[in-house]
Amino acid sequence: MSIRISQDGKNFLIETANTTYASGVSPSGYLNHYYYGKKITGADPADFRHTEDEFSGISFCPYRKLEHITDSRNLALQECTTHNVGDYRISSVIVRDALGCDSTDPQFVSAKTFPGRYEWAGSMPRVRVNDDASVETLEVLLRDPATGVEYVLDYIVFPAQDCIVRSMEIRNNTENAVDITRAMSFTLDIEHSDLDLIHCHGSYARERFGYSRAPLQPGTQGFFSTRTSSGHDQNPAFALAERSATEEQGGVFGCVLLYSGSFSVEIEQEPYFRTRATAGIHPETFQWHLESGESFRTPEAILTFSANGIGGMSHNFHEMLREHLINPRWVHEKRPILVNNWEGTGMDFNREKLLNIASVAAKCGVEMFVLDDGWFGHRDNDRSSLGDWFVYEEKVGSLKTLAEDINRMGLKFGLWFEPEMISEDSELYKAHPEWLFSAPNRARTYGRHQCVLNMGLPEVVDYLFDVIAKILADVPVYYMKWDMNRQPAEIWNPLLPASRQKEASHRYVLGVYELHRRLLERFPDLLIEGCSGGGGRFDAGILYYAPQIWTSDNTDAFSRLYIQGGTSLVYPLSAQGAHVTANANAPLEARFAAAIAGTFGYELDLTTMSGEMRQQVPEQIRRFRAIRHLVSDGDFYRLQNVWEGDGCLNVWEFASKDRQEALMISICSKRLPGSGRRRIRLRGLDPEKQYRLENSDFVCSGDFLMKVGIAQRNLCRAGEAEICHFTAIG
Ligand code: DGJ
Repeated sequence: MSIRISQDGKNFLIETANTTYASGVSPSGYLNHYYYGKKITGADPADFRHTEDEFSGISFCPYRKLEHITDSRNLALQECTTHNVGDYRISSVIVRDALGCDSTDPQFVSAKTFPGRYEWAGSMPRVRVNDDASVETLEVLLRDPATGVEYVLDYIVFPAQDCIVRSMEIRNNTENAVDITRAMSFTLDIEHSDLDLIHCHGSYARERFGYSRAPLQPGTQGFFSTRTSSGHDQNPAFALAERSATEEQGGVFGCVLLYSGSFSVEIEQEPYFRTRATAGIHPETFQWHLESGESFRTPEAILTFSANGIGGMSHNFHEMLREHLINPRWVHEKRPILVNNWEGTGMDFNREKLLNIASVAAKCGVEMFVLDDGWFGHRDNDRSSLGDWFVYEEKVGSLKTLAEDINRMGLKFGLWFEPEMISEDSELYKAHPEWLFSAPNRARTYGRHQCVLNMGLPEVVDYLFDVIAKILADVPVYYMKWDMNRQPAEIWNPLLPASRQKEASHRYVLGVYELHRRLLERFPDLLIEGCSGGGGRFDAGILYYAPQIWTSDNTDAFSRLYIQGGTSLVYPLSAQGAHVTANANAPLEARFAAAIAGTFGYELDLTTMSGEMRQQVPEQIRRFRAIRHLVSDGDFYRLQNVWEGDGCLNVWEFASKDRQEALMISICSKRLPGSGRRRIRLRGLDPEKQYRLENSDFVCSGDFLMKVGIAQRNLCRAGEAEICHFTAIG
């Protein structure tokens, strides 16, 4: 059992393989937080009760009951915050009552546990439970005595991955309507604040490029997106690491939000040097009206704690996302090695050109041809046709026979869509100008000459489903690239009254998920690759539907070390779209080395390849086939980060779970005179086993490789790369 409740039903202990999480009911009837961290052996749920005594009465820290003056909401560590009843720290939830009062006062009522997870209707992404016996949920019911509104806190416990998934449901079981003005997914109070906030940020073409690590400061800090999309700039995930934590050692809390819309991460170092962390839908762009009998559930958030450093946190997330989020149909399935025509041709192609690329690709061993933007409506540039998802026959002829011809070459066929968008120059716009986001009294904002459909309108989702499903039913499409090249503005929903317009942004996100859900229900074998002008919507919400996401339009191998490395803090490399392109900033071997740490493919016009590439591509594909299982299923280690030390070297490792094989990918990102060769220590090997390095006579024990390491042989100049495949002997 991973959850234990004390005999009086008021103390709760959650245990995973390596962590303990404890909470309990305070003297005045609130759900307090006691502990989250390294596993405490032999702990009993009631053991933590004495921690209540630590909160002594302090002036200006109000209390709710005269008989419990030390039980101050402003001092206690909490599982669910109160608001406007004497806690002046960040609130996770605010519900405005029928009188317009924002006081929010959830008090403990009862708790229960059950195997598996709770039911949740609709299309919001959620963690998957494949086997009810291995997962358990703690559900705590809180109620505001003044209004009767109920707050259900859920903790889905994944013991093997050291993860606890949190979410809250707000139920209006009262007679009056109420308005939620803030509903974050969780509150995590930590009893100290000697922590560094870690997250990755960037911009278009530099997604998660910047690795930020900064000690918590008094007051609040955080980051957010208001783009109705997670965005290129920030990502809905963070870590709080002990100051001394490294890649391999030290305590690290991690959080990833299962949400693709506007979000906020808020961390407060409060005056008594404790930490409050919360994350969820950005309150600035959110509000939700609940009529009597209605309820609202927040996005789920995966929390983890690892005592094995930042790498340990990443390991927990990768396991969790692979085993309990990504569609099981695809997670361990070989993803086809693709060629995409975008960087090679842009929209300037015809049927013959496409068939020529596919034909060369097939001869090289490529497994799928992806037709990108420009095959529909009358689209020859980015000023037209979005929304007109019918074939541009003058350009490509019959799409069905094109796909069939490509299939006959031995290649699967993939197709690009940008479902959420509309061009003013389109048939769809002529028919439904009212379907795009625009406020009646305001000028429009454009991005890439296009506008955004209001996915919060059910008829828009119906239209898109019908028109896309028609193509998918008619044409043998194995893979769909789902792009999004701008984010909404003038967010306004004609179906909502003025007082409820702050629902429009979240309703857009719900519409995006609903379209994914319906398409996958109809085409369960469809492989979707998420994309948003590169990796502008690389988040766990999209990952629930799309097992791979294009990481960035920036395919320069040096940049990719930062982009893929930063993304790997949370998301597995096996979900990261990575291609070799004609961008020759780095030598071909380095581009190959960076791209195999991902879903791997090519994005160029193979018919005009240089001599070197012509020779190398079939060989690269052969080499990738021999190691692809390590990238898709192995344990990942960042052995040397390009953003650390002198910034010269980046080394990644994938080790098979049976410890029979390991792949080490090293890329020298710049030459720094005087920086010598380095010895790199591998991880995740069997110390007892002997490993042979492929194509060499080097044999050495796992223990040696992990303790002493192996010298980088040829990595002195920028762009030199080394791919080492170790295999256990016997
Ligand atoms: C942005 C994507 O990131 C590219 O890969 C490509 O699909 C273009 N859009 C097409 O417009």
